[in-house]
Amino acid sequence: MKLLEVKAESNISKILIGESMENLPNYLKGRKTIILTDTYVAGLYRKRFPSKVPVIEMGLGETNKTLLTLEKIYDKLIDYEADRTTFLLAIGGGIVCDVAGFVASTFMRGMPFGFVSTTLLSQVDASVGGKNGVNFQGYKNMIGVFSQPEFVLCDTGMLKTLDEKQFKAGFSEIIKAGVIKSAELFAYCENNANSALMHDSSTLIKMIYDSVEVKAKVVEADERERGERRLLNLGHTFGHAIEKLTGILHGQTVSIGMVLAAKVSEKLGLISSADTDRIRNVLLQYDLPVVPNTDIALLFNAMKKDKKREGEEIHLVLLEGIGEAVTKKIPYSQLEQLIDDLRSDFR
Ligand code: GLY
Repeated sequence: MKLLEVKAESNISKILIGESMENLPNYLKGRKTIILTDTYVAGLYRKRFPSKVPVIEMGLGETNKTLLTLEKIYDKLIDYEADRTTFLLAIGGGIVCDVAGFVASTFMRGMPFGFVSTTLLSQVDASVGGKNGVNFQGYKNMIGVFSQPEFVLCDTGMLKTLDEKQFKAGFSEIIKAGVIKSAELFAYCENNANSALMHDSSTLIKMIYDSVEVKAKVVEADERERGERRLLNLGHTFGHAIEKLTGILHGQTVSIGMVLAAKVSEKLGLISSADTDRIRNVLLQYDLPVVPNTDIALLFNAMKKDKKREGEEIHLVLLEGIGEAVTKKIPYSQLEQLIDDLRSDFR
């Protein structure tokens, strides 16, 4: 097991990488605990949950990440006589962790909470960083808080029950961490795709640790996303637009978005075509999509509605090399031209 600490303004979050779920009692420390999970994870793992702990189950997917779900969970917490000292433990992927983090931060003005992350995407990204929230009126994560979990337990053995497509989608956030800040992690991803995809635990533990380390440093420097933290959005501005238009998995859209960001960086003369090729090739090694599955003119319109919009400009995360991401404000008129120029690359 490898321990990594995220030192945020309010508290320190312990990320336990390669820890077994069986060791959960060591972290719950005998406290009164309530578990929040989803119906799918409960079906697979409920027998292994700590005994005699009440379990609240929520439905699957983004459509359940709503204020209505929060109300139902608050009701259950009242039924179970939870108070400010009760520990809320999320066992699930990004959605369960996001909802639990929000509930725990708001119920009676805050109760302690922690996560057992059951998907690769949530181990490397969704459960780390302190952003917790729910969707509202079709807008993703519109209502939320910054609040760090006491711990995040990442048991790589649990990834074996993950659907293959979801497992592979998690690697896009690992590769993204390499692309933005660590050429070494990027090269490791290039050289170890087979063992990672075969679930070799030491390979997975190294990849998860290194990508969480990148994210932890960025979050520690800028918890509330006023500057540096924007780098974590590499591929996401394009990716969110694709997600809205096509509904494919978040990790897959980030993969396509990273290729688009690399292409735009290349067109602006910031990186070489060899760098773009390396990024595309490593994503292909993990069976991730690299071509937009929608007309890219539609992308431009969807991007105009992005949260990162500032007047007639948008903050884009671009590359000056592998391991060297930068943010640039680009006028929409220039972005439209750049996207138009990309059409021939994706024909
Ligand atoms: N909870 C995800 C993040 O803060 O980035």
